Amino acid sequence: MLRGFWYSPMRSDQLGRGRPRGRDALKTAMLLGTPLVVGRDREGKAFAMRDSCPHRGMPLSLGHFDGAELQCHYHGWRFDAQTGQCRLIPSLTADSKLNVERIRAGHFACEEHDGYVWVYVPYPGTRGEPEEPCPRLPVFGERYRIAHLAADLPLSIDHGIIGLMDPAHGPFVHQAWWWRSGKSIHEKQKHFEPIPLGFRMSAHAPSSNSAAYKLLGVYGEPVVTTIDFRLPNIRLEQIRCGDKWFSSRAMVVPVTATTCRIDFCAAWNVFRHVPFMTSIFRLFGRMFIGQDERTMTEQSQGLKHNPPLMLIDDADRPAKWYFALKQAYLRSRETGQPMEHPMDGPVTLRWRS
Ligand code: FES
Ligand SMILES: [Fe+2]
Repeated sequence: MLRGFWYSPMRSDQLGRGRPRGRDALKTAMLLGTPLVVGRDREGKAFAMRDSCPHRGMPLSLGHFDGAELQCHYHGWRFDAQTGQCRLIPSLTADSKLNVERIRAGHFACEEHDGYVWVYVPYPGTRGEPEEPCPRLPVFGERYRIAHLAADLPLSIDHGIIGLMDPAHGPFVHQAWWWRSGKSIHEKQKHFEPIPLGFRMSAHAPSSNSAAYKLLGVYGEPVVTTIDFRLPNIRLEQIRCGDKWFSSRAMVVPVTATTCRIDFCAAWNVFRHVPFMTSIFRLFGRMFIGQDERTMTEQSQGLKHNPPLMLIDDADRPAKWYFALKQAYLRSRETGQPMEHPMDGPVTLRWRS
């Protein structure tokens, strides 16, 4: 699980709107094995703290929140929700020499974008300030629709990610009349190029065996799609067709070392005037992600026994790049040298799917 990146522990709507107070205002989430308490202050700004009091480890989510400060319910220490700084230790006498302000609860930079709460998980030994801006879903105009989906998986982030970028499971896992049939398997050739922290499947006409892509043909313009993968966990796909576009992002969020969640979100201006388009999209999206969820849950049964695994060329080459990128990132953090990209130029891969 890589540190030094932004991750999303939960959706914005899980935090609720308005200005809830007390314990109900506080939500918990697990992120990279760290328990978090997340909430919104009285100005509506989200905050995230480690869900553990620095005094004796009581979960702060069990305490009381007044809209600005969170009070632990064991000995009543109070912490500023936006900075984690301790404001009050009720047991101290007036002549106490203890500098309360120097005590801090674990605290994380926190933002909200695209309907998600984002938390910056610093690299060990660095200060908590974000070293890069929070990721955004690319959109190409003012007017669009947006939808979100999620699936919890009993697998490590690595298996979640290589499952997500794997081109060879499509004909077996995602068979559906509206998408493609098992018989449509054929040879494909795709060009890839390195991008910072990841790689791109260069702009290409989408696979001819995907019925969903064929639908875009009604606009009578060429359809072009680009797919990017970027460390630590983001896959972006853009489909453009004249001034019509569809932009999606799948993130594999590391919850613990052995569990992850796929957060999928998409924005589009295609078929904006078709009624119930968002519901239709959710229905099909749910079905599609459900197929991955079922498959990876089954896979986790086999992985329990720690079997030896293999990655083959060319279909698993993106998975190899992912592991090489992780190594390169960690090496550059350790040495302080710029990251050495594992790809030295464009590459063409061929497989059947
Ligand atoms: S454990 Fe939180 S105040 Fe003591
Ligand atoms: Fe899949």
